[in-house]
Amino acid sequence: MVLTWVEILFLGLVCCLFIRSTWNSMYKDRNLPPGPTPLPFIGNLLQIERGQMVKSLMKFTEKYGSVYTLYFGPNPVVVISGYEAVREALITQGDDFGARGKIPTMDSFTRGDGLSFSNGERWRQMRGFTFKTLKNLGFGKKSFELKIQEEAKCMVEELKNLRGQPTEPTKLLMDASTNILLSIVFGDRSEYKGERFTQLLAYVEETFHLLSSPWGQLQSVLPQVMNYVPGPHQKLKTISEEMVTFIKEKVKVHQQTLDPNNTRDFIDAFLIKMEEEKNNPNTEFTMRNLVITIHNLFIAGAEAVSTTLKHGLLLLLKHPEIEDAVIHEIHRFADIAPFSVPHMTAKDTLFRGYAIPKGTDIYPLLCSVHRDPGYFSTPYKFNPNHFLDENGKFKRNEAMMAFSAGKRVCPGENLARMHLFLFFTTLLQNFTLSSKRKFTEADIAPRMAGFLNTPIRYELSFIQR
Ligand code: HEM
Repeated sequence: MVLTWVEILFLGLVCCLFIRSTWNSMYKDRNLPPGPTPLPFIGNLLQIERGQMVKSLMKFTEKYGSVYTLYFGPNPVVVISGYEAVREALITQGDDFGARGKIPTMDSFTRGDGLSFSNGERWRQMRGFTFKTLKNLGFGKKSFELKIQEEAKCMVEELKNLRGQPTEPTKLLMDASTNILLSIVFGDRSEYKGERFTQLLAYVEETFHLLSSPWGQLQSVLPQVMNYVPGPHQKLKTISEEMVTFIKEKVKVHQQTLDPNNTRDFIDAFLIKMEEEKNNPNTEFTMRNLVITIHNLFIAGAEAVSTTLKHGLLLLLKHPEIEDAVIHEIHRFADIAPFSVPHMTAKDTLFRGYAIPKGTDIYPLLCSVHRDPGYFSTPYKFNPNHFLDENGKFKRNEAMMAFSAGKRVCPGENLARMHLFLFFTTLLQNFTLSSKRKFTEADIAPRMAGFLNTPIRYELSFIQR
């Protein structure tokens, strides 16, 4: 079929009108903070260097300042950068910025249930309960310290068996971190210990593998297309559902053996609360919220702790001279959640002169806080002096926000801190770390994989002291 020039002109006109109207409704009509100019349909995706999201967003900060808008496809995201602005958003205007933003790789599975990806009353109830229960179960208490020490001892034994042979530590650290969460959520009865929940470990690992794959990453920024494109990222939902089936089985066993006077673990505490609230029509204590909250704890906790440990060991290999007062600097330098977890405005919000409508996705750039030259003298260098005063004593630095801040601050912070402290000290008391490879500054710099900053893959030897 050959088109006449009139038809070609007509088609061209229709295309132009379509692009113009899409452009206006997508970008121009929204009176958001300025940022790089987006293209129709794909937004700013081409302006973000492949695999260099942190670097690209930091560059935009230099050009557009501490508040700017980026478009992932047609979706606007307001990016907030630097300690002062992030603090103002998350703490001073915490109610405005405290909602959870869109996380396309997880949203179709969680559907706003559980703790991490919920909002409003559901989030309030899940968050209050989780905080209280984790505290009651022993966060920050002696009993808990003993549990972590027990796990650290098991790790030392496994490492001794290696007799100084080089090893890649990912699996070992991930297993140890997951085991601690297992004992909080499922209790540490002997049958569970024996089984070591191999299956659950495999699910958690695969979830992270898929989230950090190029497919998962593309889905996070262009869900409008990727939700419908076949590929490995489609497995995420299936794996999460299998994980939930597994969790449900364990909950069933708890129901059969529940003793309301003896709370053994997180599941027991939730089941008791469910029973107390059974006549409350507005209760959020449902089976669905229980299983998704458990899923959240594993996904948020296991990888975060083991990734921090992995960064830490690498940094200690590079800087063997400083084996104390370093954990804060490891958190800052490793910067494992560079954009935190996306937030969203809970209402129409005025921020630094900009009107940001309710429901806009917000990225608080924790990476920019951790590299803020106003708070860290050598932001791009690993330097424990950032946390030491002139007498060599520990000094807090408010711009260390590895666990974020405000309403959504990480509820696992106390557990993670205790875990990291006990693991690092136990490892260093028992071993000297060594590696054949000489690591450069570029080697120790964190790099983005999925939504986490991970260290390079490396091997090290644990030489018994
Ligand atoms: C080194 C370890 C960890 C780091 C650096 C870390 C960091 C973070 C960050 C940055 C957030 C986002 C907060 C926000 O939205 O503003 C978060 C949320 C969360 N973390 Fe952690 N985390 C760690 C360990 C843990 C552990 C061990 C657990 C479980 C016990 C956990 C459970 C959670 C949950 C459930 C949320 C979502 C909270 C909500 O939406 O209200 N995290 N974490």
